[in-house]
Amino acid sequence: MNPTPADRPAFRPEPPDLLAGRGIALGVSGSIAAYKALALTSGLVQAGARVDVILTQAATELLRPLAFQALTHRPVVGDLWAPGSELAMDHLAIAQRAELLLVAPATADRLSRLALGLAGDALDTTALASTAPLVLAPAMEPNMWAHPAIQAHVASLTARGAHFVGPWEGRLASGKLGLGRMAEPETILDHLRWLLARQGDLAGRSILITAGPTREPLDPLRFLSNRSTGSMGFALARVARDRGARVTLIHGPVAQDAPVGVATVPVERALDMQAAVLDLAPACDALIMSAAVADYRPAAPSERKIKKQPGDLRLELSRNPDILGSLAEALAEGSGPPPYRVGFAAETEDLETNGRAKLQRKGLDLVVANRVPASFGAGEHEVLLLTPDASEALQGASKLAVAAAILDRVSQALGASPGTGTDVSVPRSERA
Ligand code: C5P
Repeated sequence: MNPTPADRPAFRPEPPDLLAGRGIALGVSGSIAAYKALALTSGLVQAGARVDVILTQAATELLRPLAFQALTHRPVVGDLWAPGSELAMDHLAIAQRAELLLVAPATADRLSRLALGLAGDALDTTALASTAPLVLAPAMEPNMWAHPAIQAHVASLTARGAHFVGPWEGRLASGKLGLGRMAEPETILDHLRWLLARQGDLAGRSILITAGPTREPLDPLRFLSNRSTGSMGFALARVARDRGARVTLIHGPVAQDAPVGVATVPVERALDMQAAVLDLAPACDALIMSAAVADYRPAAPSERKIKKQPGDLRLELSRNPDILGSLAEALAEGSGPPPYRVGFAAETEDLETNGRAKLQRKGLDLVVANRVPASFGAGEHEVLLLTPDASEALQGASKLAVAAAILDRVSQALGASPGTGTDVSVPRSERA
């Protein structure tokens, strides 16, 4: 069958942020880390969430409710007992409309109160009255965090399904180093997305993604590599996670953090990436190879630093294996259905012809042909999605938008997700 030619390039918008339109109640308790709650609030608002902020009495000693009100454009519960504070009295309505209850920072006192189910202030009562998942970002001195009393409360909250983000190791306000820093707002936001991400057309699917460059050592200090940032693979991981997939990301050295909830396998050389892919691919539903794998590696990497010599130095390079090619052979020998396989092709011209040749040569189900240098590292892309029987052209699309289009194809090919049709809300066992 002749493939359907690509129509005029379609503009593909970015997928919406999972936090957009969601009701988030943010409880702020009285740790000096409360200053980060402002950045968190701002991040939530920018992501499109409806944020109801509840400050504890101690938090109002550190930050004024007005600061949060200015960010959320909504009333803030600052003092439950303030005279005439009719809005404050309405805080139970917050418990009802919250889809997630986040406490950040959560002090030792607040964790203890929540674990015991105390009902002494607006945040306590909101937590008791809400059936929404509870997310806690602790912040306290390392000795307090390590104390058996606090650890017992952490265990009891965890057993009731509360989600902890952090604390992290690092410098604390006291100047000490240790475990007790509040997680950074960006990580907390992404944790919330992950909790909201269980529904979606890829729920129950397992997707393996490769990303970034490989690094081929010359000696202990030097290597050959390329300029890949890994952004495409990380965008794919985020969108697949947001659509409910279980995602594993095999990545070369990159300067970005994986989305929360995505399992990572860091590798260096093409040979390491190949071993990881061959190990994990047979058990996944789809493999998306967005990594820029080095075609060659130094034939004989030196165990010692190569010293400068007078004159030129010649390097001998060996061909790296083609990972997708070797996978086709490995899968042919194995049992079970092969994963849906997606490869990338960076082309300067003849995207369709060259992409189709790659589709066949590498035994792929989908090739994402990118026009370079137009797409290289830029925020806008010109890509062709090539399957054996169709072509789809996208233009002006961001990496997240391209990722969404690729995952549409994957999702269609995999058919009805084993997760759809069942209860897609956050499982009860995960509610505190
Ligand atoms: O052959 P070429 O490098 O143009 O193909 C690119 C596609 O093949 C990408 O999906 C890339 O991740 C994959 N690849 C591979 N093993 C290699 C080189 C590229 O699987 N050694």
